[in-house]
Amino acid sequence: MPACGICILNFKGGVGKTTLSVNFAAGLANTYSKKLDRNFRVLLIDADPQSNASVFMLGEYWKKEIFLKPEKSLYGIMTRILKGNMTKIDESDILGQFSSEERTPVFSKEKKFYEDGKGIYVDSDTYWPNLHIIPAHYSLNNFEKEIRYDEEGRVKIPSISSTIYYYELLDRVGEFIKKYYDFIIVDCPPNIYTMTEIALYFCQNIIIPVIPDWLSTNGINWLLMQVRILKEKFQHKDKIIRAIVPTLWNSKEHVFNRHIRILNKSLGLWKRNPNYSDLLTKAEIWVGLQRLASVSKSIESLRPIVDYQATEPARIQLEMMIKKIANWVEE
Ligand SMILES: Nc1ncnc2c1ncn2[C@@H]1O[C@H](COP(=O)(O)OP(=O)(O)OP(=O)(O)O)[C@@H](O)[C@H]1O
Ligand SMILES: [Mg+2]
Repeated sequence: MPACGICILNFKGGVGKTTLSVNFAAGLANTYSKKLDRNFRVLLIDADPQSNASVFMLGEYWKKEIFLKPEKSLYGIMTRILKGNMTKIDESDILGQFSSEERTPVFSKEKKFYEDGKGIYVDSDTYWPNLHIIPAHYSLNNFEKEIRYDEEGRVKIPSISSTIYYYELLDRVGEFIKKYYDFIIVDCPPNIYTMTEIALYFCQNIIIPVIPDWLSTNGINWLLMQVRILKEKFQHKDKIIRAIVPTLWNSKEHVFNRHIRILNKSLGLWKRNPNYSDLLTKAEIWVGLQRLASVSKSIESLRPIVDYQATEPARIQLEMMIKKIANWVEE
């Protein structure tokens, strides 16, 4: 079964994309896997030059190692593909999670991937052996600026002495990761430039975090329009928006409750709009993740909610969402 690719997307900044990305990834790889007696293998790809998800997952290791060696990040992968020095992502491009005692990652050399005829396994004593990351680096900004393609959007790849569309770049080298992982979650930057398009091409499923307020709710219409245009450009019939996820809301504030009602009503209208209907067939408004001090604290301490003494609402809300995502693997 190929990996279920999920793009966490909104062109608006600060809406909780990274918070959901890391917590979905950690929840699927850890708690929820255990509850279901499944070992979901999860890869988080940080596609945002801000590198927030990478710093969250790798802490000091990102600052000491990746910051000084951008070639070890997604930037390195993208530039190697362009130069024709890379044909597939493999274990040497992927980092494991923290070890059990210190919050340092397991280095790729300590990870052994092997096949026994039944499938590929990872041999590792990581704290969460099933959670891996391809980190980002600030240099991804340079990649965005430097990539050149012709008027049709094609880039020349020396290794295959051919051209491909720039948005296919990651997909072309993703065979191993699509085979190995159950879930690949991509944390997108808050824009619609090259990396976002590459991430959208790579993933079939889209989750849109949104703060339920007036500006954000209005922004969704434009976001839907852009996603529809890209879906057509990619000729990806199966690409769908799975969920709109209200974030950073406060149940005591009337304005948020009102905008969650507006979102629900709008989704009904969008689903009936022939321009969006095939994009939204399975779309739902989820419970989301409310604004909580315990969520802020978990982020500050670089620990996902499943691994932190977060208050009940955060755990319950997150678990409700992870339960839904966990079911997609069977589809
Ligand atoms: N449920 C929550 N409760 C409290 N604080 C939160 C919650 N969700 C996110 N935050 C905080 O809100 C800020 C924005 O969240 P986050 O970085 O996840 O958004 P983003 O959409 O990834 O931002 P960007 O567009 O810059 O990548 C962060 O400081 C984060 O710690
Ligand atoms: Mg972010």
